[in-house]
Amino acid sequence: MNKTPQDNQEPVDVVIMAAGKGTRMKSSLPKVLHRLGGRALAAHVVDTAQRIGARHVVVVTGHGATDVEAALEGGASGRVPLFARQVPQLGTGHAMQQAAPLLPDDGTVVVLSGDVPLIGEATLRALVAQSGGRRLALLTIRVDDPTGYGRIVRAPAAQDGEGEVQAIVEEKDANEAQRAIREIYSGVMAVPAQLLKTWLARLDNKNAQGEYYLTDVVGFATVDGVPVVAHRTDDALQVAGVNSPAQLAALERAYQLRQADALMAQGVRLADPARFDLRGTLACESDVEIDVNCVFEGAVSLGAGVRVGANCVIANARIETGAVIHPFTHIDGEKAGVTVGEGSRIGPFARLRPGARLGAEVHIGNFVEVKNSTLAAGAKANHLAYLGDATVGARVNYGAGSITANYDGANKHRTVIGDDVHVGSNCVLVAPVTIGVGGTVGGGSTVTKSTEPGALTVARARQVSFANWQRPKK
Ligand code: UD1
Ligand code: MG
Repeated sequence: MNKTPQDNQEPVDVVIMAAGKGTRMKSSLPKVLHRLGGRALAAHVVDTAQRIGARHVVVVTGHGATDVEAALEGGASGRVPLFARQVPQLGTGHAMQQAAPLLPDDGTVVVLSGDVPLIGEATLRALVAQSGGRRLALLTIRVDDPTGYGRIVRAPAAQDGEGEVQAIVEEKDANEAQRAIREIYSGVMAVPAQLLKTWLARLDNKNAQGEYYLTDVVGFATVDGVPVVAHRTDDALQVAGVNSPAQLAALERAYQLRQADALMAQGVRLADPARFDLRGTLACESDVEIDVNCVFEGAVSLGAGVRVGANCVIANARIETGAVIHPFTHIDGEKAGVTVGEGSRIGPFARLRPGARLGAEVHIGNFVEVKNSTLAAGAKANHLAYLGDATVGARVNYGAGSITANYDGANKHRTVIGDDVHVGSNCVLVAPVTIGVGGTVGGGSTVTKSTEPGALTVARARQVSFANWQRPKK
């Protein structure tokens, strides 16, 4: 667990409310499973909760509970959150009532929403510090348009400055004057568990929406003489919720820009940070250049001086120093991974699939597909070819239109191509087969038997010509 400023204070337990339907997404997928940067919205929140050193993370699920729980079980930290089911969903206060039995009395509870994915660690730590084991701390923000949010109602200020927070009033329950308030509740609070539990037991649903409002705890705190502090953020991104596809897209762009900025700060040269997408992790050494419209997924690492051309999709791969990935190349290592060796040249329009292991200075050209194959240093397959389940030696030249026939309909077989072999164009190497070191395979050959080192193999019908051939006439 990370060292935190509150290490010697109360433990922190986090509740993530994620039971809502998300009607405005107009989707069969539960809202919190929609993806931001390639990961479920709620998964971002679980990670953040774990990064602040939460003792327990409780996710309140309801709509699509089974799917939401399954999706959150394999989090980045590997720690599975606890789940509290809320059926039916009677409001945020009701959601917290379902979580309450899982919360020990000695902790500070941080309340988060599964659809507010970019809440920051530092903000939460500051909020917990504000709660200090005895106060109700609310995360608030001033906005230009407060429509739809709970308004922060304060007492008149005694002197200069702001009055005490007295209540949060929901839009639908607010009077004219309250609606004009531009300070709103973000949906995030930190509160001592014991106090929270007594207040949750007192909630009712006598309001415009007939819901149990968590926000009513503010009124109880005031009555009980518990100090309420508003911790104001000015970072709208951190408290931005996702309710519609348009909001999801806007947040995605903002998130991508933030990732792009972080990479550029490390020295990565992005042709256009607005046309860059990272859905996973990207580790870059020095002097990496990435052209426009590239998408990186899973875990990708790029060595020093690597250049990636426009419109490449690269997933789960390691690209070694000085390699160049030309435009429109698709690399996906999935679970097995892909490695591209030092100084290699890939693409344009190349496809590297799981288990492609390329050594140094390998050239893979347009419309070449490589799967589960190793290519030793200096091997080249420059045009229109397939290498599947192959072991390719150093300096091999693999001709245009040649393929390994690796699949007999039931099993995959290996093709072994020795060092310095030259395979002509349009060959079919029927696996299992070995082409001996230094051998040559004539263009158009279908090779079914292994060949000796140094041999020229031609496996095609001999050419026949008929002199002065007369074509049939119409
Ligand atoms: C809530 C706050 C409002 C605040 C706003 C910030 C209340 C009463 N109001 O309003 O003051 O400004 O968030 O975005 O809390 N959820 C459940 N179970 C339920 C209802 C909701 O788990 O029964 C979850 C939702 O999935 C969502 C979160 O709680 O993740 C917030 O619910 P939502 O309905 O969006 O609350 P708002 O009306 O926006
Ligand atoms: Mg909301």
